Amino acid sequence: MKGYQFINKKGDFQLDNPEKNSYLYFPIANEAGVMSSVTPTLGGDSKTGQNTFLLAPVSSEDLHNNKSSRNFWCNIVGKGIWSATGRSARQEAMLFTEEKEETSLEAGVMWHKVSRTSKDYGIKSEIISFVPCSDDTVELMVVTITNCNKEALTIIPTAAIPLYGRSADNIRDHRNVTSMLHRITTSQYGVTLNPTLTFDERGHKKNTVVYGVFGAAGEGEKPVGFYPVVEDYIGEGGSFENPLAVVHNIESVSAGYQVDGYEAMGGIRFDQICLAPGENQTYIIVLGYSDTMDGIEEQAEKFLSREACFKALEVTKTYWNDKINVSYSTASSDFDTWMHWVNFQPMLRRIYGCSFLPHHDYGRGGRGWRDLWQDCLALLIMNPTGVREMLISNFGGVRIDGTNATIIGKNQGEFIADRNNITRVWMDHGVWPFLTTRLYIMQSGDLDILLKENYYFKDPQAVRGEEKDPLWQPEDGNRLKTAAGELYQGTLLEHMLLEHLAAFYDVGEHNHIRLRGADWNDALDMAAERGESIAFTSIFGSNLEQMAELVLSLEQKGIRTISLFKELHILLADDPDLYEDVKRKQALLHNYCDICRHTISGEKVAISCLELAENLKKKAAWIKEHIRKTEWITNKAGHSWYNGYYDNHGKAVEGDNASGVRMMLTSQVFPIMSGTATTEQVEKIVQAADEYLYDATIGGYRLNTNFHEVKDDLGRAFGFAYGHKENGAVFSHMVIMYANALYQRGFVKEGYKAIHSLYQHCINFEKSKIYPGIPEYIDGKGRGLYHYLTGSASWLLLTVLTEMFGVKGSLGDLILEPKLISEQFDHSHSAKVSFIFAERRLRVQYLNPDGKDYGTYQIVSVKINGNPYIFNKECNMISRDFITSLDPEKEHLILVELN
Ligand code: G1P
Repeated sequence: MKGYQFINKKGDFQLDNPEKNSYLYFPIANEAGVMSSVTPTLGGDSKTGQNTFLLAPVSSEDLHNNKSSRNFWCNIVGKGIWSATGRSARQEAMLFTEEKEETSLEAGVMWHKVSRTSKDYGIKSEIISFVPCSDDTVELMVVTITNCNKEALTIIPTAAIPLYGRSADNIRDHRNVTSMLHRITTSQYGVTLNPTLTFDERGHKKNTVVYGVFGAAGEGEKPVGFYPVVEDYIGEGGSFENPLAVVHNIESVSAGYQVDGYEAMGGIRFDQICLAPGENQTYIIVLGYSDTMDGIEEQAEKFLSREACFKALEVTKTYWNDKINVSYSTASSDFDTWMHWVNFQPMLRRIYGCSFLPHHDYGRGGRGWRDLWQDCLALLIMNPTGVREMLISNFGGVRIDGTNATIIGKNQGEFIADRNNITRVWMDHGVWPFLTTRLYIMQSGDLDILLKENYYFKDPQAVRGEEKDPLWQPEDGNRLKTAAGELYQGTLLEHMLLEHLAAFYDVGEHNHIRLRGADWNDALDMAAERGESIAFTSIFGSNLEQMAELVLSLEQKGIRTISLFKELHILLADDPDLYEDVKRKQALLHNYCDICRHTISGEKVAISCLELAENLKKKAAWIKEHIRKTEWITNKAGHSWYNGYYDNHGKAVEGDNASGVRMMLTSQVFPIMSGTATTEQVEKIVQAADEYLYDATIGGYRLNTNFHEVKDDLGRAFGFAYGHKENGAVFSHMVIMYANALYQRGFVKEGYKAIHSLYQHCINFEKSKIYPGIPEYIDGKGRGLYHYLTGSASWLLLTVLTEMFGVKGSLGDLILEPKLISEQFDHSHSAKVSFIFAERRLRVQYLNPDGKDYGTYQIVSVKINGNPYIFNKECNMISRDFITSLDPEKEHLILVELN
């Protein structure tokens, strides 16, 4: 492997000359809210939210086009000025010459270290950046300068970090005016910026956030002065890469200085130092946020010594590595280690949302509905405690018409009405809560959660985004009431039934569920009137079927009936003629939505579990049959696959077209996953996907073929150039769901191929140009983009654990169903996975002494901690009772022999 090398199994890696790659960035953050990105030359930014950026916000293009960075200068007396981060005009000019300085990056989960050696000057820097995992809102930089000469070096060090201190909106909007709000002071250790007001989309408000940059040498020696104002620091004609304050060593101001109304600078001058040959000195820089002037100083002072920083670094490393509590051991140790990063990514997404890394220069920090539920998938596996409450509260976002709130508040279970009264309905939203809740139930056996209750979301939207509720007033609040004015609560099962039953009737002219604002593919957003998504219709179908199974499991537990609000029974109409009749379906749905427009009666009517399950199964079967009957296509070349969409002209999107073959991966994934595609059809789909979508040079399966058309009757995706993002890139999320679907259907070799080609591409740094992990997509040139914050990480974690390794819950019991292929077993014929199940730490080791391939081996024996376990071969199951009888303090080895 060229590019980076893993140093250990915890994912730490090393890369030479990191700055010779553009667009690289690395996340360092904590759960207290600090979100930073850092580049090999210490660019990037830091913020705690959209309106509180300490370092000015950067988009990917700013990474090479911005002089603003976390600089640290050494004015080497008698030699010249040198940037320890490489951000000087002179050092940048050396990048492509033989004089280029030696640089190396080492990084691990939530820490980043760059070293740089200048042969010219005989000086070396090592800069560690991290955000401590504590409650402190700080980012730390530990800079160590070493004299590599045979003679002593005299150095005047200056840390230089511009303090932006305001909202991302002000980067263009009132950048200058907002600098006039700045109140800047210097203290013993640093520069503090306390703006008077904030000017942003929220209006003009009193500012409540204090920003600061602080520094100390060694074990806490104070700086000797400060440069608190940008224009004084850079000097007339100077810049951050050629600053007059450093070049001419101009005088700094001392502690207790105050200046108002300028762009602020965290410029910190340290005492001149003479380093003997081989000697080094460490400087600590703290970038901090607080809500008080005292608070920011106190917080910084905790870290202003070498010892405190290194201690915090160790605690932080352990903290994150302990959190990533799933690990693998296969024939490919690189794959195992790469997965460590993938497992970590969902934690990053919980912190950063879908914003706040340089490619993610949109959104204001929130996550969408779909992401909210999918991020729970990984959480369920790695940190199941607390997930129950989170799931229950998330159901509070469902509206009574089966759609849901799309603006998610900061607090768990908080949903906000769109102030601008914009309605957008994503037709796929209804499927995710069920997929996640079912996984939770399967892993935990907690069927009772289905009967927990929550409210419904209420705002002026009605009839699935098409109409309004004129009676609703903001002061009515965001919870649905009954006609008597009481807040209404229903079970989670009721919420999920509603999401699916309403969708069942919400069909377009081909009797598939309407696309509305878009489905999973957010960029299929221009077919709201006549568009239909067969892809997601199929998954609504299989969800209905699986919901019926859960209802039957409740029945087996002795729960004979389920109470549902009276009006929901309208949607339980059970009539095959109705199912076939688009107009009648639409009318029934409209009638229901109309009745529930403002309030519901509050009356509950019971239905027997058996009847309910039967009813759902019929609807599920109808969907499956209808898709099979109408959407299986064969083109002239003899390939067959599913058409997954109708456009806004009511035309089928896929198949042969004058401009070429049109095929979409999403349209195949969900018919496969839902069981709509028959086994023979899956075989054909795989062939067609290999023919039309597979491109080994960019990591595998593209999202679609080239439509050669700005298809404005389907979505903005087709305005993107082909090969980018939602138009035909290798879009990781869908590739992984394709793999997952194939594994589920027993197409193991095929599923492995999808994952393996993407993995091999990602880990090939020369091609993917990203650090370890899975990016949102791979573009046409092979670069990985939108790294780290992607739902594909949750799905990959889940797929590797529950499908490849086949360890998964079945109503709380543990099933072992390995789908490993022979090349995944190591030289001792073993493959291992460690994970948490039923609050016990388990290590499953599969032994395959004859090196058999998937399909030819079976489980022949199971030993738990050395003792034979009598295994029910039919269902390969270890009972939850047995697992919970194991010592919670220890790890338990489940040795599984295959033959
Ligand atoms: C992103 C969004 C996801 C959406 C997808 C396709 O994918 O987060 O909700 O479905 O684009 O439009 P991600 O970056 O999570 O892989």
